[in-house]
Amino acid sequence: MSHENQWLPATEWPAIHDADIHLWFVDTAEHTAQATSLRALLNADERVRADRFYFAVDRIRFTIGRALLRSVLARYLAIDPAEIGLAYGARGKPELAEPTAASGIRFNLSHAGPLFLVAVGLGRHLGVDIELLSPRERMHQLAEKIFSPAEVGRFRQLAPTEQLAVFYRGWTQREALLKARGDGLGGPFTQIECHDVPGTDLVHFTIRDQPEESQRWSLMTFSPRPDCVASLAFDGKPGLICKWRGIDTPKQHVEDQGSSWSP
Ligand SMILES: CC(C)(COP(=O)(O)OP(=O)(O)OC[C@H]1O[C@@H](n2cnc3c(N)ncnc32)[C@H](O)[C@@H]1OP(=O)(O)O)[C@@H](O)C(=O)NCCC(=O)NCCS
Repeated sequence: MSHENQWLPATEWPAIHDADIHLWFVDTAEHTAQATSLRALLNADERVRADRFYFAVDRIRFTIGRALLRSVLARYLAIDPAEIGLAYGARGKPELAEPTAASGIRFNLSHAGPLFLVAVGLGRHLGVDIELLSPRERMHQLAEKIFSPAEVGRFRQLAPTEQLAVFYRGWTQREALLKARGDGLGGPFTQIECHDVPGTDLVHFTIRDQPEESQRWSLMTFSPRPDCVASLAFDGKPGLICKWRGIDTPKQHVEDQGSSWSP
């Protein structure tokens, strides 16, 4: 179920329509040289947050990711990236603040190492999660804890070489669903059961004691690149899903080298 070839370079800025979801995938390592100038796009709180990271690599990734998020949202809203106001839900889910919230643009984002994924939609609640396929300590114990008994049974039957990808598929599916719902850490992480729909990226799921949730949300899993896996959850039925690789940054800020911040 690999669809790397569907990720297109963003040569022109796409319009977004009601049922569409746009996914933006970027490797922040490709923007490291711009980190200082991209910091100009962050607001004061974000700069404070960036500066709290102990390691420069985390500081730079956060700065680039936030600037790219602002660059993406600014294009849909036709305003300057630095002017975007973000608000946070009770459990930390970010969204557009007023007055731009009235645009109906919603988004969610995920980081994994240098990788960064943003989903953008119109009027839909969204959740994304991306993970690198890196070996993980206690993977088997975690799988037994978070997967349903049927999924654990299937997981145990797999060859060790297949288990890593299946583990992260299941992990990102749960995270994406809970992020779409805005649950955060309080969500029913271990009560979700997922089944791939053969021949598609779609995933059927159930949440124990919440049968209506399967009707409310759609879920899909895909690989932006062979070293990672990602899932997207959104309310409603699937429409057009556009996948873009790379994000361009506003020229005037990238060329502005006036900041004295040193990553
Ligand atoms: C908070 C949480 C959503 C972060 O997820 P993560 O995989 O650690 O990190 P990701 O990079 O994928 O996502 C982080 C982004 O999600 C967004 N986010 C934060 N809280 C969110 C919430 N409640 N709902 C949706 N999105 C949220 C933010 O944009 C954040 O990035 P930012 O801080 O740079 O703005 C996650 O820890 C969580 O609560 N997951 C719920 C499931 C769970 O319990 N998992 C742990 C099982 S042991």
